[in-house]
Amino acid sequence: MDWTHLASAILLGMLIVATWLASIAQANERTQKSQEDAAFIERLIGQMTLEEKADQLTQLSVLTIPTGPIEDANDPKKIGTSKAGSLLGAYGAENTRRLQHEAVQGSRLHIPQLFSFDVIHGFRTIFPVPLAEASAWDPYLSQRTARAAAVEATASGLHWTFAPMVDIARDSRWGRVIEGAGEDPFLGAALAASRVRGFRGEGPPDTSSILSTAKHFVAYGAAEGGLDYNISDLSERTLEEVYLTPFRAAVEAGVDTIMPGFNEVDSMPMHANRKLLKQKLRDEWDFQGVVVSDWAGIRELIPHGVASVPREAARLALNATVDIDMVSGDYNAELPALVRSGQLSQDAIDGAVRRVLQAKQRLGLFDDPYRYSDPTREKTQLLQPPTRALAREAAQKSIVLLKNDDALLPLSKNLRKLVVVGALANDGVSSLGSWSADGRASESITVLEGIKRAVSPMTEVVYVPAASPGSTDISGIEEVQRAVVDADVIVAALGETADMSGEARSRTSLGLPGAQDALVAQLIKTGKPVVVVLMNGRPLAIPTVDEHVPAILEAWFLGTEMGHAVADVLFGDVNPSGKLPITFPRTVGQVPIYLARKNTGRPPSGTNAYASSYIDSKWTALYPFGHGLSYTTFTYGTPRLSKQRLAFDETLTVQVDVQNSGQRAGEETVQLYLRQDVASITRPVRMLRGFSKVRLAPGESTTVSFLLDQDDWALLNHDLLRFVESGIFTVFIGGTSATDNQAKFEVITSAQLTGPGSAIPRTLRD
Ligand code: NOJ
Repeated sequence: MDWTHLASAILLGMLIVATWLASIAQANERTQKSQEDAAFIERLIGQMTLEEKADQLTQLSVLTIPTGPIEDANDPKKIGTSKAGSLLGAYGAENTRRLQHEAVQGSRLHIPQLFSFDVIHGFRTIFPVPLAEASAWDPYLSQRTARAAAVEATASGLHWTFAPMVDIARDSRWGRVIEGAGEDPFLGAALAASRVRGFRGEGPPDTSSILSTAKHFVAYGAAEGGLDYNISDLSERTLEEVYLTPFRAAVEAGVDTIMPGFNEVDSMPMHANRKLLKQKLRDEWDFQGVVVSDWAGIRELIPHGVASVPREAARLALNATVDIDMVSGDYNAELPALVRSGQLSQDAIDGAVRRVLQAKQRLGLFDDPYRYSDPTREKTQLLQPPTRALAREAAQKSIVLLKNDDALLPLSKNLRKLVVVGALANDGVSSLGSWSADGRASESITVLEGIKRAVSPMTEVVYVPAASPGSTDISGIEEVQRAVVDADVIVAALGETADMSGEARSRTSLGLPGAQDALVAQLIKTGKPVVVVLMNGRPLAIPTVDEHVPAILEAWFLGTEMGHAVADVLFGDVNPSGKLPITFPRTVGQVPIYLARKNTGRPPSGTNAYASSYIDSKWTALYPFGHGLSYTTFTYGTPRLSKQRLAFDETLTVQVDVQNSGQRAGEETVQLYLRQDVASITRPVRMLRGFSKVRLAPGESTTVSFLLDQDDWALLNHDLLRFVESGIFTVFIGGTSATDNQAKFEVITSAQLTGPGSAIPRTLRD
C-alpha cells in the first residue's frame, strides 16, 4: 500500500473514532442532564404540600369571558391568581413579567407560571381561519403560519397555545367546523402534524417555541344535530378510523398537551373518560404530556350526570388523568381532601404535578422564569412586514374558485365602474374571523379596501352596504338598483359575520342569513355580471347563488391580509388554487354529507325509485370535497401503476401525467383516492390517500408520483384487528374527489398487521 493511502486511512479512522467518542460524550451529557432534571423535579415534588400541588394543577383566567352556568368558578380572588400553576389570557411582555414576578415571589417554592392563550390562527398578524387554510392543502404553509404565530405569541410572553384544533367535522351546522381542517382524517392528520411542528419550531431552549395543544379529544365534532356541546354517539370503528386519526398524528408529531372535549363518547363525558384518556392516549399511544381540561369541563361532569358534587367531579377527572383544571377551581378546592381521605392516590396527583412541572422545565422556566417576557423582543416581532407577507400568501392560497362561467374572472383593473355590495365587504372584524387573539380590525385590510387599492385610477369603485347577515332590514337593497345602472360588474361580499361561526354558534339552516337572499334576488334582477365573494366559517347551502351567479369565490375569513388577497385573485395577479376541505351541501337537510360515505345496498341511481336518495333534492353535493377551479385548466392522463398485482407488503407506485392545458400559469392539487371494491366489511366509496401540489406554466406537463403501501390498503376488520385483505382496489386521481380518472390493481395476499401504523401521511414523516 502506498504511504499516502495509508496516512489518509489512518486519518479517516481517527476522525471516525473522534466523532464516535464525541457523540458518546454528548449522549452521556444528555443522559446526565435529564437525570439531573428528573431529580430536580422529584425534589420539588417532595417539598410540596398537597395544597401547593393543587395550585399547580389549577389554571385561572384573566379574561372576562363569562364562565357559563358555573357560579363563581373563576374568581381569581378566591384562589389567588399568583398561586395558580398557569394563567389563561395573560399576555404582553411587561404584563407577563409582572405576573411572573408575583407568582415566583408569591409562592413558597418560587415555581414559575405558564401563560396560555387561544392562538388559533395567528396572534397579532392573523392568518386565514383553519378551515380556510386547510383549503390550501399545503402542510408546509400551515407549518410556516403556525411558526409565525408562535414567534409573535412567544414574543408577547406566551408559553402555550390551545391549538391546533384537530376535530374532524362532517356536519356544518356545528359552528366549530371553522376551527379545524374539515371532514377528512388524512388531510386533517397532515395539517395536525404540520401545525404542531410549526408551533414547536426548533424546540426549547429557543424562546420562540410554544407548547401546542391538540383538541378537543375526541369526537367533539361528531356532536349530534350539529349542536355544540352535544353528545357524540359513534362506533368504535368510526372513532378509530376518523376521529382519532388526527390526534394520533399530533401525538406522533410531538404535541405537548391534549384538551378533552365537552362531549361524551359512549355515555362517558370526555373529562372523565379514563378509557380514552388513560388507556388509549397514555397507555396505547404513550402520550407523556399534559392533559388540560376545557373551560370548566371538570365541573360540567355534574350537569352531565356522572358526579353530584365538585369533589366527585374532581376525583373522576384526575383519575382519568386530566392534569390541569381550567377555571372551575375544583381541583384547587377538592384535591387535597381527596388525597387525605384516600379517595385519590398520592401517585395520581404526583403524576399530574410531575407532567406540569416537566413542561415548565422543558421551556427553561426554572432557570429563568422571565425568558419569554422580553419587552424589547416584543417590540420587534409583532406584525412585521414578512409576517404580513406570509399572511397574504396564505390568504391567496386559501381562496377556492367555486364557479367561473364564461371566464368572468379575473376582472380587468381598468373597468369603468365597479359596484361593491354587502356589509361584509367593509367589515374588518369579520375579515379576521373568530378566535383572533390580539388581531385588530384596524390593522386588517377589508375586501372593499383591497379592491380600491388594486384597481387603476380610471375605475370608479362605488360601495353600497345594502344588506347585513345580522339584520333582516332590506331597506338598503333599493339603493343597489340605482348604483348599478351604469356598472360594469358587481362584486357582492356575502356570507356570515365572524360571530356566526365558532364556539356556541350552531345553526339550523345553512343559507345566507339576514336579508342577503333578498339582496341576491335583487342582484340577479339587475342583469349585470355578478361576482360573489363568500365570507363564512362553514360550508353554506347556496343553490340559488350557484344557479344564477356566474362567478363565486369562497374566501372564508382570511385574516389581516384578507382584502389584498381577495383583490389579488379577483384581478388575476394570483391564480386561485384552493380546494374544498369539506363538502358543500345543497340543503341543510343533507348533513352530515361527506366524501368517504358508504355505498349502501341501494346506491343512488337514476332508475330505481327505492334507492338511497331524496325526493325533494339531488343527493349529490353542491360542491364536492376537493373541488376548486383555476383560471387555467389541467388535463390528466390515465393513472399508471408500477404493478397490477402485488403482495400485501409490497409498495405500489402510481403515476399520472398532468398538463396545464390553459393560458395561464397555475397551481394544481393532484388528489389520489382509494377504494377497496370488496372486503370483509364495507369500505368508504373513496378515501383520500395522497395529494401533491404542482405549479405549471401554460402548456407545461409533469408526472406526479405517489407511493402506496400496506398502510393505505389496511382496514380494521369486524373484530377491529388491523388486516390487509386481498382484493381489487380502485385508485382515482384528479383535481377533485369527483374525478372518474381511475385504474385498478389487486392485492393478492392477506395478512394481519402489527401496530397501528403511522397516522402521519408518508410524505410528511420524519
Ligand atoms: C373553550 C373552548 O372549547 C376551547 O377550545 C378553548 O381553548 C378554551 N375555551 C379556552 O379559551
